[in-house]
Amino acid sequence: MEQISMQTMFGDDPHRAEKFHIQWGDFLFDYSKNRINSQTLDLLLELAEEVNLKDAIQKYFSGDRINVTENRAALHTALRSSEKSILVEGVNILPEIEVVQSKIKAFAQSVISGNRKGFTGKPFTDIVNIGIGGSDLGPDMAVEALQFYKNHLNLHFISNIDGDHAAESIKKLDPETTLFVVVSKTFTTQETLSNATFFKHWFLQSAKQEDVAKHFVAVSANIDKVSEFGIAEDSIFPMWDWVGGRFSMWSAVGLSIALSVGSENFEKLLEGAKEMDAHFESCSFESNIPVVLALLSVWYNNFFGCETEAVIPYSQYLKKLAPYLQQAVMESNGKSFDRDGNPVNYQTGNIIWGEPGSNAQHAFFQLIHQGTKLVPCDFIGFVESLHGNNEHHDKLMSNFFAQTEALLLGKNCDEVTAEGGQDRFLNAFKTFGGNKPTNTFLIQKLTPKTLGSLIAMYEHKIFVQGVIWNIFSYDQFGVEYGKQLANTILDEITTGNSKKHDGSTEFLLKYYSDIKIE
Ligand code: F6P
Repeated sequence: MEQISMQTMFGDDPHRAEKFHIQWGDFLFDYSKNRINSQTLDLLLELAEEVNLKDAIQKYFSGDRINVTENRAALHTALRSSEKSILVEGVNILPEIEVVQSKIKAFAQSVISGNRKGFTGKPFTDIVNIGIGGSDLGPDMAVEALQFYKNHLNLHFISNIDGDHAAESIKKLDPETTLFVVVSKTFTTQETLSNATFFKHWFLQSAKQEDVAKHFVAVSANIDKVSEFGIAEDSIFPMWDWVGGRFSMWSAVGLSIALSVGSENFEKLLEGAKEMDAHFESCSFESNIPVVLALLSVWYNNFFGCETEAVIPYSQYLKKLAPYLQQAVMESNGKSFDRDGNPVNYQTGNIIWGEPGSNAQHAFFQLIHQGTKLVPCDFIGFVESLHGNNEHHDKLMSNFFAQTEALLLGKNCDEVTAEGGQDRFLNAFKTFGGNKPTNTFLIQKLTPKTLGSLIAMYEHKIFVQGVIWNIFSYDQFGVEYGKQLANTILDEITTGNSKKHDGSTEFLLKYYSDIKIE
């Protein structure tokens, strides 16, 4: 296939898109602008059979301990399921999920309506979500994406241990009308606990200790640690160890989403994800969006040596999609040992990056068009504009279509000359090789439901790739080591008791402490 260009394949068969697309509900997935023919697709589908994907999907949905290295299930799909029973350790988990969902609903309604008030009797105006990683990126992305549906509450997301992040947000907050949602599955994460403590101190400058209960709620699987922090038990929204942090926005981690857009919209988000789950679980592989998407990604990653994939949503609302997917994809599939514990001798996790179009066009598209690297891209666009500014929307979408066409077709020297390029030297710089692969998602409208389906689609893509690469996608031991070292170094910086390091780190630490002392 390396020798066959897409330009030739489209020349031979102008109706390729009819063969290589999947239409599902409000989604049109056109994957015809890829370096594949029917045989490639058949072989990739055979690969999916060979790794027994069907069986893996069944285990994923039914609560098997597919997160082997942490000895638990990865059951984010249960959070949006309408099954009657899903068993974990012999216990049906669906009733407890329902209890938490009702609690989210009641709480969100009471805050949005103004019935729940702050310590001076005023309704809340601002919500501060304190969390990091999966306890921040999912809700932050969804709140941004669903801005069109939001109510009067102002949402703030504080994640970074950088004190300037918290300090900046304080400028916009009034302690009397601010509600803090502390989100941490483990409730041991340095960033989250430090930021929560910082905000508690700030709050207590204006309020009394007993007022904390009115202004601080927590989402966590570690009830004891939350209580230790001083948050009342009835203000805790539980989550469970079978929900991975980066897949947790469907749980109470999504509380900030429910506060921002109301619980009905939060339920629609879950509904959209549920529909994608049903599609993924039941559709034959050739008509299965996450499966085909994952196979194409494996095709470029493992057969073409592509290191990265770009995600380009043509919607400013989706500006936080790429950072969200970076954690979901890279924390999951950035692994180098197979499921038997042997080092892999093939490439695994893709590097994800991206920005909304058309901004991205004016930033990094040059490299995708004319650089030396092959970067497969997902283009995500919507048929309808939310505010109904059709003039702008048609311009936006004309860019959306034009870019995938330009990436496919390129422009040869004859075409440049025909356009009036007389300078042969310059003409060379103005040619485009084309033959650059893109997936196009054309979705009816950005709604809570379609957003839910879109995110679930990527979750399942991650899962399929983990199965094909024979790696464990649901642990993240790689993140832990840096955290341990940071704790050791913090101890050194604060006590002055230096420890053994590599030469560079020792040199840097000495410089940092000496400068501080001066
Ligand atoms: O970065 C590692 C990580 O464990 C992520 O997987 C997780 O989303 C994040 O830290 C936050 O963890 P917690 O919700 O326990 O504070």
